[in-house]
Amino acid sequence: MSENAFIEYDGKRQELETMIGSENEVGVDITQLRAKTGMITLDPGYGNTGSCTSDITYIDGDKGILRYRGYSIEELAQKSTFMESAFLILNGHLPSQSELDVFERGISAEAGLHHSMNSHFDGFPADAPPMAILSSMLNTLACYNTELLTTEHEGEAFDLVVSKIISKVRTIAAWSYRTSVGQAYMPPNPKLSYSGNFLHMMFSKPFEEYKIIPEVEAAIDLFFILHADHEQNCSTSTVRMVGSSRANLFSSVAAGVGALWGPLHGGANAAVIDMLEDIHSNGIALSDYVDAAKDKNNDTKLMGFGHRVYKSFDPRAKILKGHVDRVLEALDIDDPLLDIAKELEQVALNDEYFVSRNLYPNVDFYSGILLRAIGIPVNMFTVMFAIGRMPGWISNWREMLSQNQRICRPRQVYTGENLRSYTPVSER
Ligand code: ACO
Repeated sequence: MSENAFIEYDGKRQELETMIGSENEVGVDITQLRAKTGMITLDPGYGNTGSCTSDITYIDGDKGILRYRGYSIEELAQKSTFMESAFLILNGHLPSQSELDVFERGISAEAGLHHSMNSHFDGFPADAPPMAILSSMLNTLACYNTELLTTEHEGEAFDLVVSKIISKVRTIAAWSYRTSVGQAYMPPNPKLSYSGNFLHMMFSKPFEEYKIIPEVEAAIDLFFILHADHEQNCSTSTVRMVGSSRANLFSSVAAGVGALWGPLHGGANAAVIDMLEDIHSNGIALSDYVDAAKDKNNDTKLMGFGHRVYKSFDPRAKILKGHVDRVLEALDIDDPLLDIAKELEQVALNDEYFVSRNLYPNVDFYSGILLRAIGIPVNMFTVMFAIGRMPGWISNWREMLSQNQRICRPRQVYTGENLRSYTPVSER
């Protein structure tokens, strides 16, 4: 039996090659379809379209499986660090101790920002959205690194860009927060871990060093690991698409920040807190909220629920849920929003609407409660996601270039007017 697929239209039969991935996913290769038949495929939202082959991340949404380079997210969450997982995602193997030391040293050395960037931060209004600042500032880094605006994706120059982006994204994030609360820039402390240094740059004061609680540092690191990659999601596809025009890495990841910002993607973690606060402060009955989310005439959605790929459970949500209690305990916080979230989850999981549509809590459902407990303001939640996602974006950008991919340029089925004649404005 042939392993190829066939498409039949208008009496003509066309054979299409198939490609079988390492986890037995089958893809029908349509790269020759238009040339051979004149037809294109139509898949708005790309739910059935594989845009590339990739060695980086594997997801089985039906079974709730997520693996970076073959390692399960559960094992990495338990045993790895964000720096080690970032190296793994970027390089395809777990680092030796010396490889890890070099990688971490490179990142640590790039934590500072050029002094003159101060004036850029000063130029933003105090209530500027941190995602807008982050995207602008990642692009601004290009102005300070003009010799690195290439599509180099191997070697020392590439390693330097990687160190700069992974390190400075955290400094930019902390600085944008401090600008918004009227505090001066806090220089990085190279003695601290990646996540510890981030907390220090966010919360230390010139006269009082922030006391890093190990459970909090570990939770931030875990949050970054869980967000480090997620195959061809909206923002990663954006980074690949922008990079496919041979745009440099600074500009490609800045575009990724824009894509991540929306509430249907990374912005959902902030939207979950807004939803829980709304329920809490207005005393809304959970059943009423769930009814509104089910009502097709109502725009309300159960934020933090549902996923394009996961149809049983999101393994990241499971891992995070377990850590929220631990962090709240370490910080001696009793958050009523956590109780509401747990109850809401139970109401939804027992509701036929959510069950029949395979809608389960996603990673954003519990991450907001964790970040809020640590003192990260809600408008910084999606920035946190972006910090964690950098290794994934960079790795996908690199893979796309190493595959020498053509510029991404989808087609369309035109449904507008046919040719018509222009009439002068006086005759309309
Ligand atoms: N609340 C209520 N109904 C929902 C929800 C939800 N959160 N999510 C999906 N549905 C319904 C849809 O209305 C649709 O119903 P229908 O079949 O009766 O028309 C059905 O479930 C299937 O949903 P789709 O729209 O096909 O799901 P899609 O894959 O397009 O969207 C998405 C996925 C965007 C995540 C969606 O579930 C959603 O908006 N969730 C809330 C926002 C959110 O939490 N986003 C974070 C995603 S994770 C991440 O980006 C890190």
